[in-house]
Amino acid sequence: MNIIAAPELMRQQVRQWRQAGQCIGFVPTMGNLHAGHLSLVERARAQADRVVVSIFVNPLQFGPGEDYERYPRTFSADIAQLQALDVDAVFHPQVADMYPQWPQGTRVQAHPDLAKYWEGARRPGHFDGVVTVVSKLFHIVEPDVAVFGQKDFQQLRLIEAMVEELNMPVRIVRGAIVREADGLAMSSRNQYLTPDQRAVAPQLYATLQWARQALLAGQRADAVGKAATQRLLDKGFDSVDYFALTDHKTLQPVDKAHDQSILLAAARLGDTRLLDNLFVGGSP
Ligand code: PAJ
Repeated sequence: MNIIAAPELMRQQVRQWRQAGQCIGFVPTMGNLHAGHLSLVERARAQADRVVVSIFVNPLQFGPGEDYERYPRTFSADIAQLQALDVDAVFHPQVADMYPQWPQGTRVQAHPDLAKYWEGARRPGHFDGVVTVVSKLFHIVEPDVAVFGQKDFQQLRLIEAMVEELNMPVRIVRGAIVREADGLAMSSRNQYLTPDQRAVAPQLYATLQWARQALLAGQRADAVGKAATQRLLDKGFDSVDYFALTDHKTLQPVDKAHDQSILLAAARLGDTRLLDNLFVGGSP
């Protein structure tokens, strides 16, 4: 497995493979890999001759006071896991190579209508930072297929929209959410939870399932959202940022459940924000 830091060397490696007629699968990550990331690598492995994984904690997508500095960096453990999955190359650039003009430079703007809700409303500039780094990574790696997790559903939609609207020659594949045995969606942030908070955390997914049943029974989204928020607070969450039924394409709030609507939720345990989501009619 090649570990490559320089963007130019990464590009050369991929071009060699392509000249040999091989197609390239790509999984961008910020490292601290868990089974959720690894499931995306397996998806890529199944669809491409060569698999590239990037590990880059992208400073541009962290706001002031967010966890850029304390974001867990576990490079050698990550490398060992990727080696076991037969990954061909890990792209691990330096901040100075990705952003030579830092903090200035050219940026990509996330689709404003998709970015204005949910995470985007609470984290100004976050999604511009995400789509900027993803478009840079796509230009360097030039993948045929790139896999993103549904765990970060708004991010996934914004990347799909960017690829479509900027005519990028890459196919985006959606990877299902990987969960712990008790239902908690895997996330690098779970390790910040105290044992007491960790015991409460699975209630986010349990409440999504509960809300899905209520919606399928015909209740209105507004009432279900309010009841679900109260349920989370009763179960021990400190606050609920949003719990909403939305259209899976536009991410706008909707009133009534339909096949393609998705519940999006974010709630806090202490300083840790947990995100999760659930398709009401089952994944499309
Ligand atoms: P990161 O949080 O490291 O996540 C990398 C990928 O793993 C994302 O596509 C994310 O949705 C997916 N993922 C995380 N937890 C998952 C789970 N439990 N099940 C399935 N997939 C999961 O998301 C980012 O990094 C960054 O924003 C990035 C896209 C790399 C740009 O910097």
